[in-house]
Amino acid sequence: MRMLLPLALIICGAAHVSIAAAQDTAALTPSPPKSSAAVKEENGEYFDANGEPTYKIDPKGMVDWYTFSGFRRFNGTCEVCHGPDGSGSSFGPDLTDSLKSMSYSDFQRIVVNGKQDVNTAQTLVMPAFGDNKNVMCYLDDIYIYLRARADGAMGRGRPASHQDKPAAAIANENSCMGP
Ligand code: HEC
Repeated sequence: MRMLLPLALIICGAAHVSIAAAQDTAALTPSPPKSSAAVKEENGEYFDANGEPTYKIDPKGMVDWYTFSGFRRFNGTCEVCHGPDGSGSSFGPDLTDSLKSMSYSDFQRIVVNGKQDVNTAQTLVMPAFGDNKNVMCYLDDIYIYLRARADGAMGRGRPASHQDKPAAAIANENSCMGP
């Protein structure tokens, strides 16, 4: 494993050169590096000082429910283009990098409406997921997971352990997914 990692980074790094150049980030609101520290907990979901969803990981590596749920949702839908654990592929940018500076509202806007680079010969299309319940019902979860990844607070792969699913998450899921 130790031996494989640098090689994987070199391969990914090469694939990203063209993608990074082709990305149009001009439309995004630049935001300063933000603190992901959880200052508030509401029904098992954590929030930072700005009221944006964030993760909570204890010293033993146990993650909050939403981080775990986001890991599963991300790797079910977004991974095909953004690579396992969000680290990017030739089809989509490295989100562990994007999320370092992206606001929660920009994240939501892009996932709901999609994004298309029209400035280069290479066409990169981020599909709109606004009518996909498997994404929309778990938008906080996916954001929280990617935020933890972008901060380097958790590594690749499945978290070793996680908090129980909060009753609020069960209720939200039932009402959002519908009958
Ligand atoms: C079919 C491939 C594909 C899938 C599936 C996909 N994306 Fe994307 N995504 C892209 C591409 C390509 C871009 C870059 C678009 C651009 O720069 O114009 C992108 C860009 C983004 C960005 C903006 C990154 C930045 O730095 O500007 C976010 C955030 C994002 N995707 C999140 C997601 C999430 C969350 C999912 C799963 C729900 C997802 N994507 C699924 C292809 C995909």
